Amino acid sequence: MSTPPLIDPFARAITYLRVSVTDRCDFRCVYCMAENMTFLPKKELLTLEELDRMCSAFVRMGVEKLRITGGEPLVRRDIMTFFRSMTRHLESGALKELTVTTNGSQLARFADDLFDAGVRRINVSLDTLDEDKFARVTRWGRLPQVLKGIDAAQKAGLRVKINVVALKGFNEDELFRLTEWCAERDMDLTFIEVMPMGDLGGEDRVGQYWSLKDLRGQLRERYTLTDLDYRTGGPARYVRLEETGQQVGFITPLTHNFCESCNRVRLTCTGELYMCLGQEDMADLRAPLRASESDAPLEDAIRAAIGRKPKGHDFDYSRQRADGQVSRHMSHTGG
Ligand code: 5AD
Ligand code: SF4
Repeated sequence: MSTPPLIDPFARAITYLRVSVTDRCDFRCVYCMAENMTFLPKKELLTLEELDRMCSAFVRMGVEKLRITGGEPLVRRDIMTFFRSMTRHLESGALKELTVTTNGSQLARFADDLFDAGVRRINVSLDTLDEDKFARVTRWGRLPQVLKGIDAAQKAGLRVKINVVALKGFNEDELFRLTEWCAERDMDLTFIEVMPMGDLGGEDRVGQYWSLKDLRGQLRERYTLTDLDYRTGGPARYVRLEETGQQVGFITPLTHNFCESCNRVRLTCTGELYMCLGQEDMADLRAPLRASESDAPLEDAIRAAIGRKPKGHDFDYSRQRADGQVSRHMSHTGG
């Protein structure tokens, strides 16, 4: 069943696939989406069966970790069927981890099902603990619903990591409150530097770029920070807060310093494979998937795509916009 592993031109083994299962979301976070979004017509989307075939091909080719994203993955109709279909790869041992990045709105409904399917860790995006601010930054979201979802997730036995997008003048004053809240609830915490996608809200601006260097400096005023070597192959750096024992992550998406250890690629809900978050190059995997009942053309297309995975991002190259902005939304490539 198994085929040679996926190794890119820079000798990096590709073992991590992030899959966006929908471009839709029940929120409209100002840094992620416009208020009036036009979503893809359903026929463009991979069906749940096609998502299974895609992911199973990658697992056969050595992918050990799958992260399901969106949009908001848990708003896709019948998505639990897909999660349950991935359980067999966990049971066979081929897949080591199945995780989800979610806004938390549907967790009260799905936490137990996710655990039953074999999910053990989830990331929940949450930028503020203030109800009014939450409504402003997500436009359509309601904080109590998300907090209930987080409760349900912890009760189900899921390990929760909170992802906070750092927004100056918005959640700067909640730095310690968020940190303490996570410590009290034994949840991991990662701060994410806002990427130049979207315009932080246009008319109803809620915040500005807040560098994690500055955020870290503020944390240092109250805590003793110890740098940890622990890496995941991704952009996150970790510190331990000696006073609480808690681990805190920092993701600065625009820095290059993690590209050499990059182990991941991203699949969109329409079957486009992005080999690098910071590059426009992608490979269409839907055509080879639909071309044949055999997975051979798909596997060939995956191998060819990995064969041109770039060395790293170049947010300042001329084929992108001058400010380094990549023209697609995060909801397209899935965070
Ligand atoms: N910058 C940084 N993070 C973003 N996300 C969405 N858009 C952006 C952006 N422009 C994050 C969400 C969530 C993950 C899916 O991506 O907050 O944590
Ligand atoms: Fe939805 Fe997440 Fe984008 Fe917010 S950041 S609109 S929750 S996909």
